[in-house]
Amino acid sequence: MQPETNVDTQEIIALEQKYVVQTYKRPPFVIERGDGCTLYDSDGHAYIDLVAGIAVNALGHGDRGVLGAIMSQASKLIHVSNLYHSEPQARLAGRLCQLSFADKAYFCNSGAEATEGAFKFARAWAKAKGEPDRVEIVAFTNAFHGRTFAALAATDREKYQAPFRPLLPGVRFAKFNDLDSAEQAIGDKTCAVIVEPVQGEGGIHVASDEFLAGLRRLCDRRGALLIFDEVQCGLGRTGALWAHQHCGVIPDMMTLAKPLGGGLPIGAVLVTQSVADAIHPGDHGTTFGGNALICAVAQAVLDRISEPEFLTAVSEKGAYLMERLHEMNSPHVLEIRGRGLMVGLELDMEANKIVQAGYGKGLILVNAGDKVLRMVPPLIISRQEIDITVERLTAILAEL
Ligand SMILES: Cc1ncc(COP(=O)(O)O)c(C=O)c1O
Repeated sequence: MQPETNVDTQEIIALEQKYVVQTYKRPPFVIERGDGCTLYDSDGHAYIDLVAGIAVNALGHGDRGVLGAIMSQASKLIHVSNLYHSEPQARLAGRLCQLSFADKAYFCNSGAEATEGAFKFARAWAKAKGEPDRVEIVAFTNAFHGRTFAALAATDREKYQAPFRPLLPGVRFAKFNDLDSAEQAIGDKTCAVIVEPVQGEGGIHVASDEFLAGLRRLCDRRGALLIFDEVQCGLGRTGALWAHQHCGVIPDMMTLAKPLGGGLPIGAVLVTQSVADAIHPGDHGTTFGGNALICAVAQAVLDRISEPEFLTAVSEKGAYLMERLHEMNSPHVLEIRGRGLMVGLELDMEANKIVQAGYGKGLILVNAGDKVLRMVPPLIISRQEIDITVERLTAILAEL
């Protein structure tokens, strides 16, 4: 069904190009409305959404639980500042801790800010244990932790770093999934090691169980903290609430963001008590982080995503998507990898070609690096939508 619209597509595109700083290259349509896993543009075209706002809209578009939480909290209190107690933040922190290894949560506004917070907490923790020279971070090849200065320094992408050098010093890179390389990088100056259990932006690479377990051992032996960045792979995306639950390795900190706020901006750093003990009033803060409205919505999101049946469905649909993608048998697809509903197709060409062709076939897709096509759909995607997606993708690949 085509929605009614008053939006003048060309006017909006012209306004955007005239007045918005051009940090993104956008396709020539305007997304106006969403419903479940479908997005509609202002000319009435429908698209299956395989991007979900880059792994954000886990419950799809227009979810009644999210809308209900927005309405009920917004009518009571939207924002009150971190100077005061508010119920939604305290309850969300409690829920996140009950559902994870963590003893305490710190709230901010984005994934990059969660990275910044985790790095600051790691330095404060090292100082508190009497090791003020322990200031370095170890990160991995292909990692992505955000675009702010400290996060960018730990993000292994020349294109993102080059325009902004000099970067924050003190970040060492080791090879992802290579314990020997990690062993050489982690030393007596390392305060923390940060790793994505499933790398997202870097091309959908799953960390092996041995690698994560080995990092835990190295961190313990060398006196450093282990941070899992679950901004993209956490909160149900892989079919477990936390991606690290697949291997059973427990970190000292975990960063979260993307899906937590149901489309509203929130980030979080979950920490153990020993990290929390190093942080005191005034050490770190933010105006909006953990705001009443978003925390109320995040509770609703977390309640839904953490239901065992919901997580089982994600695993099953993820396995189904993988199976259907393998059946395409396209010579352009060199490898299909991922976990749950976080899937990457390594191609023999620029993934952007497929992304562009997808628009014409009613698919919203995104790349992860140059040659990897990424699928991170809403976790509520149906098998039927998966079937239609694979049919359309098969047609696109055949036409190329
Ligand atoms: C693993 C990971 N960490 C951190 C970030 C940064 O999050 P944000 O864009 O909310 O700053 C991202 C964003 O893609 C991410 O995928």
